[in-house]
Amino acid sequence: MKDNKYYELQAQLSLPFLSTSSEALAQIFKTLEKRFGLKKRSTQKLIDLGAGNGNVIIFSALNYSIASIGIEISDILINEIKERIKILKEKKIYLSKILHKIDIKKGDLFQQDLNNFDFVYLFSLPTMQKYLKHVFLTAKEGTIFISYKYPLDGFDSILKLEHVLDMKLKRDLLKTYFYEKLNSSAL
Ligand SMILES: C[S@@+](CC[C@H](N)C(=O)[O-])C[C@H]1O[C@@H](n2cnc3c(N)ncnc32)[C@H](O)[C@@H]1O
Repeated sequence: MKDNKYYELQAQLSLPFLSTSSEALAQIFKTLEKRFGLKKRSTQKLIDLGAGNGNVIIFSALNYSIASIGIEISDILINEIKERIKILKEKKIYLSKILHKIDIKKGDLFQQDLNNFDFVYLFSLPTMQKYLKHVFLTAKEGTIFISYKYPLDGFDSILKLEHVLDMKLKRDLLKTYFYEKLNSSAL
């Protein structure tokens, strides 16, 4: 990705940092396990498009021990994730092979190729979703997209809505939307 601070600022204005809580993630990952074939300690791979402070990828690696990759544009947030991983290493509660499953990369989610992933996590906003079609098209058939809080509208030819999870959280009632990637060559 080009080192373009103005682009990075614009990106964060169109999709600012907000995080998914561990409470919500516990319910979302249980659903992935029960309905979408997520298997602990498998070779499955998850990517979080816009990883924020790493809540999703850290939860995924520590609880499911699968490769958990985050793409994030903000250097500040990337450093925060690295610091969290360093603290986890120092605490020595988790095996280093589990912590190695967490991988944070600086990058632009609009340039991400999803071909290699089984699960794609997004906490996006309805206002910027319309620019994601070319990214979604790179995913292989059967990839599960998890959209926290907001549905992915307008992608009916690419993504099939499979499940809506209603979550009663301590401070909120929220939904998470699960989609399956359709066969793009049939389009
Ligand atoms: C709503 S937050 C979600 C954080 C995390 N996925 C979670 O659920 O806890 C969106 C994140 O996307 C990042 N972001 C915004 N535009 C981006 C871009 N073009 N490429 C990569 N990351 C981006 C923001 O910096 C922010 O951290």
